Amino acid sequence: MATYGSGTQIKNELFKPEVAKRRARARRQRYALVRRGEPRFAEPSWVAGEARIGIISGLLTIKTNLSIFFKGDDMKKNKIRIAFGSDHVGYELKLALMAHASDKGYECTDFGCHSVNRVDYPVYGYRTAKAVQNGVCDLGVLVCGTGVGISLVANKINGIRAVVCSEPYTAKLSREHNNTNMLALGARVVGTGLAKMMLDTWLGAEFEDRSRHEDRVNMINEIEKTGGLRQD
Ligand code: RB5
Repeated sequence: MATYGSGTQIKNELFKPEVAKRRARARRQRYALVRRGEPRFAEPSWVAGEARIGIISGLLTIKTNLSIFFKGDDMKKNKIRIAFGSDHVGYELKLALMAHASDKGYECTDFGCHSVNRVDYPVYGYRTAKAVQNGVCDLGVLVCGTGVGISLVANKINGIRAVVCSEPYTAKLSREHNNTNMLALGARVVGTGLAKMMLDTWLGAEFEDRSRHEDRVNMINEIEKTGGLRQD
């Protein structure tokens, strides 16, 4: 006894002779059209097949393009490695900023400290700035009570341009005009929301190189390297 798994199977079985006849007729017509040099468009099932393939390949193209677009964005962010450092006062804000940046796809590394136990900010400012200087990370974020002490330390390291910020405008322009590579924030000065906003603004801004700003940053570099300025 035959067993049937679906309605279509049952129908095919019941109308087997009819189905077979219809298929044979369609095949004959198709071959006749091909012989007359009229393949494709005259045969409804071929047209449907073509349309299906067209739609599917169109959808696949859209999907591929979208994934490249989003992946491209992610890849761009993944390439940016951010060094984070703080003292005990900045510890909690640092963790919140690291989580925020990680969520956005940046690669984050914590150079300490690792608790709220009292420590000296120069140690962590130094370690974090060195990671940016030697290229282990591309940018750095520092947090202490005011952002001042830890940024002073970072700015002692050759090649580091750290900015202390308490509002986004300075964060933005410090990148565009001064090409800052470290952002310092004060956990006793700003709340978490404002700090995240400044971080986003700072990361989103770009240095306006090939402009007067580049010449000025080069002058800073000259003072740093030679201890003087030729045009003075
Ligand atoms: C620590 O008390 C505090 O001095 C430090 O976090 C920072 O504000 C230094 O600039």
